[in-house]
Amino acid sequence: MASPAFPRCDDTGAWKALRQHFDGTGRGFDARQALQADPARVQAFSLEAPQVFADLSKNLLDAQADRLLLQLAQECGLTAQRDAMFAGEKINATEGRQVMHFLLRAPRQGGADARLSAELAQVHETLARMLAFAEELRTDASITDVVNIGIGGSDLGPQMATLALDSFVAPGKRFHFVSNIDGHELAAVLRQLKPEGTLFLIASKTFTTVETMTNARSARQWFTQQGGRDVSRHFAALTTNVQAAAEFGIGRTFGFWDWVGGRYSMWSAIGLPIAIAVGAQRFRELLDGAHAMDRHFREQPLERNLPVRLALLDVWYRGFHGFTSRSVAPYHSALRRLPAYLQQLEMESNGKRVDRQGRELPYATSPVVWGEPGTNGQHAYFQMLHQGTDVVPVEFIAVKKPEHGLAEHHPQLLANVLAQAAALMQGKSDPGGHRHFPGNRPSTMLLLDRLDPRSLGALVALYEHRVFCAGALWGINSFDQWGVELGKVLAKDIAPRLASGDTVGLDASTAALVQRLRD
Ligand code: F6P
Repeated sequence: MASPAFPRCDDTGAWKALRQHFDGTGRGFDARQALQADPARVQAFSLEAPQVFADLSKNLLDAQADRLLLQLAQECGLTAQRDAMFAGEKINATEGRQVMHFLLRAPRQGGADARLSAELAQVHETLARMLAFAEELRTDASITDVVNIGIGGSDLGPQMATLALDSFVAPGKRFHFVSNIDGHELAAVLRQLKPEGTLFLIASKTFTTVETMTNARSARQWFTQQGGRDVSRHFAALTTNVQAAAEFGIGRTFGFWDWVGGRYSMWSAIGLPIAIAVGAQRFRELLDGAHAMDRHFREQPLERNLPVRLALLDVWYRGFHGFTSRSVAPYHSALRRLPAYLQQLEMESNGKRVDRQGRELPYATSPVVWGEPGTNGQHAYFQMLHQGTDVVPVEFIAVKKPEHGLAEHHPQLLANVLAQAAALMQGKSDPGGHRHFPGNRPSTMLLLDRLDPRSLGALVALYEHRVFCAGALWGINSFDQWGVELGKVLAKDIAPRLASGDTVGLDASTAALVQRLRD
């Protein structure tokens, strides 16, 4: 069933009222003064979600804007749009697909709508098979290296999560992630391997992605050239395209379904490296954490719904303040791949310029999402955040309890995250001078108690739903990615020209570069 047309954000009364409010007092709102004047502000702009506490009080958001944004969500039918996704409607209309990554973490009993019970049963069947394999492998000391070959969603999620959960990874196995078609990456990994000690996981939803298939072929060739025997024991495929995996010569396949978007797939068989790293029980905790966030998103009213509130902030900052980017600053080094993961999640989902009907949008959509782990960023680009000409909202992620016992470190880390958020907000007066900090620079603080499988699952699901909400308000399809196609097609055309030297039909610049690369 196609989803009904929902009003686009700019078709609502709330949007017009927001424009008026912004042009009046909204633009000049000073959160620093508001925090001073209203002792209840922190409380009013704090939210409690499963595993994640959020303080939004340092954002450029006054009570009126907040009220109007919630009205905007209502007028856009955000809850009905959300329910359409959870009901399994084909909300990814340009690809004619359902969007059901939430099903991958739903409990077998009562975890999802009854009409999705057949899909849910398949999910649990595959999950059990995949986790049994993960456990078997964990006890197999002869396999010392697990190499995930995949790109985009078939790389970023498992890589980010395996790193994030490093404190929970049993020793004895090394994990490698090869995504780039640049042979330097694969070659550097192969140098460290022995065929008899290696398991290659070929991770590709489509099993056609050029980068992945090229790396997979080279890995297989290396394996046989190095005397490796038994491809079926040393290769497994994680894919929806079981037939292509079989044609490649891989018998052991863990499948998933076309209703799982690539960038939403770490909960599926694509998560196998995570499960091998942390074990079945902890992988289930990761799923449970995400499911708890799914329930929060489905059940909480708009005003207490954290993904909704974060998305409304995105719409406010892009559509009214005109902030072009958002920086993510995890104050936990194990979250170092989170910004890269979020780049795909957010920018591939919401980097769109037309609405669901294909009409050009008169407002801005996805911000540029970027960042590095906390204190490292402080000694690199935070200068620009504090004193540059652009305002960049920052999203800090801090973790209360560390997983290590090095007493001196964590209090300093926490002091730094608090200090940075306070400095951005408070600023420092030295009018006209080089030491002047304008202040009133917005940030959000997300706090986790610990970084463990459950909280990581909740955090990632929070981001997924936030992206969904922003896309729903902007009236776009967050689940296709046509923007990556053109470059792929052109690369296919150019590859043989580098060998043949044929430049007919290429633009003058590309033709000259082809020539130069052949000289
Ligand atoms: O090119 C973009 C993309 O389709 C992503 O959406 C996806 O995560 C990635 O390529 C990898 O695709 P696959 O898992 O099919 O190899």
